Amino acid sequence: MKIRFLGHAAFELTHDGVTVLIDPFITGNPVATVKAEELSADAILLTHGHEDHYGDTVAIAKRTGATVQAITEIAGEIGEEGVETIDTNMGGTATYDWGSVRLTQAFHTSTTPKGTVTPPGGLVIEMGGKVIYHLGDTALFSDLALPGQRKKVDIALIPIGGHYTMDREDAVVAAKLVGADVVIPQHYDTFPPIATDAQAYKSEVEAAGYARVEILEPGQSYEA
Ligand code: NI
Ligand code: MN
Repeated sequence: MKIRFLGHAAFELTHDGVTVLIDPFITGNPVATVKAEELSADAILLTHGHEDHYGDTVAIAKRTGATVQAITEIAGEIGEEGVETIDTNMGGTATYDWGSVRLTQAFHTSTTPKGTVTPPGGLVIEMGGKVIYHLGDTALFSDLALPGQRKKVDIALIPIGGHYTMDREDAVVAAKLVGADVVIPQHYDTFPPIATDAQAYKSEVEAAGYARVEILEPGQSYEA
């Protein structure tokens, strides 16, 4: 399977002709290298409702017919736009013909686009025989270790930018807790407050032996 970094927290997963988008904030994303209109999708997965994650979700879903999976309250609002939704809540798993997606806890804040307060989440995705854990926007907390206790995480998408999430030093500990083979950093260098040194992060995680870190520039892909 292929994981393309679209910039910020946005990723495109493709396998066997299926395309899954995570947190497709493209329009207004200063580091994006694609246009929202160029993306295809069978499913769109949201960690939470902040604009830098929700982004182009409704426009892409309307154009492509993609199903949107988000926490109950966000799914409810998106459903009102005439988009097909899956409204999992914490711990819930949606199954697809290409795999599954479970919503996990994250420590952050979140509102729906219309302002309703909801909890934020992370996403544990099984696709193409791989387990991919997108941590969402979160602080460091010990239960980041739980998904890997159920089934080993192959690839973790970990925020490292600080300010709105854990910083790169806490993200080293997160890499240890999650226990993935490969870590792809995200949610950094998009805006000045979340600028960080991804190479230093890679050096520290790899020196500790916690994981291999694959730094992707926006537009670059990793073949899993
Ligand atoms: Ni957020
Ligand atoms: Mn964010």
